Amino acid sequence: NQPKVVVIGSINMDMVTRATRFPKKGETISGVSFDQLPGGKGANQAVACARLGAAVSMVGAVGNDPTGKVLLKQLQDEKVNTEWIQVIDNETTGMAQITVAEEDNQIIIVPGANFAITKSQIDAAKAVIQAADLIILQLEIPLEIVEYAAEVAAGLGVKVILNPAPAQPLSDTLFSNVHYLTPNETELMYLTKQTSVKEGMDSLLKEGVQGVIVTLGSEGVQYIEKGDTASSTVKGRLVEVIDTTGAGDTFNGALAYKLAGGSNVTDAIEFANVAAGLSIMRFGAQTGMPTFAEVQEVMNT
Ligand code: RIB
Ligand code: NA
Repeated sequence: NQPKVVVIGSINMDMVTRATRFPKKGETISGVSFDQLPGGKGANQAVACARLGAAVSMVGAVGNDPTGKVLLKQLQDEKVNTEWIQVIDNETTGMAQITVAEEDNQIIIVPGANFAITKSQIDAAKAVIQAADLIILQLEIPLEIVEYAAEVAAGLGVKVILNPAPAQPLSDTLFSNVHYLTPNETELMYLTKQTSVKEGMDSLLKEGVQGVIVTLGSEGVQYIEKGDTASSTVKGRLVEVIDTTGAGDTFNGALAYKLAGGSNVTDAIEFANVAAGLSIMRFGAQTGMPTFAEVQEVMNT
């Protein structure tokens, strides 16, 4: 039984410059390399999930430009169903300007067509949403679309994973339609205005989320579900850092793949943690995402 996942979110072309360090304000430095690579949190999560073996449909938008065509083709090559992706005239395809240096990255996004996704696109995709095991959302498309999509999915009885990245203030109504919220530590603190992971997780449960899964980088993952007396931790794995871009997306895509397949949350997190670790060891957001066999191999050692 192939897991069925719908991803509603952004599609970007990543313009990636590698350098040995970040430039200071006003400074010009020489970089090491430049690449144009497919990205966008939505597309990344769709590809992560599809590469592991899920049947993935993506709802999103690209501009009517050469970049949009390249990105659509790339998604199709990854076997992501693109029939719900809108091609929009007079908007440019989403773009992310990324600098990779010092085991970290800096990103500027120009959303373009990603901000032209409409509610009617969600309505048009209702049947595929209803047939899905779960849907995944992020925050690189308009918040009102995220809210609407979560409401539609929850109304159809389909579980929603929301990866609240990049962080922005969210409403209780949205939280009440979210099954799993997957912030990193910074996003958790931003969303809840709390000072510890524990307080942050507790406050989200009070606001109506069913489960909170917090990614803590090398510290692993902490999670709690409604009704749990305490949170649980899945240990981090030490890997050689080449490029962290898309690590969070790999985690979310892999988590969705496992949960959609009926795994319990602990197993899903362990699997997603390994997948994200593997993605960090390779350059690029989507290029580094592992296959199911690659994740299995690490889990067996
Ligand atoms: O999460 C990584 C992604 O964020 C990149 O691919 C970039 O497009 C930005 O949206
Ligand atoms: Na990577």
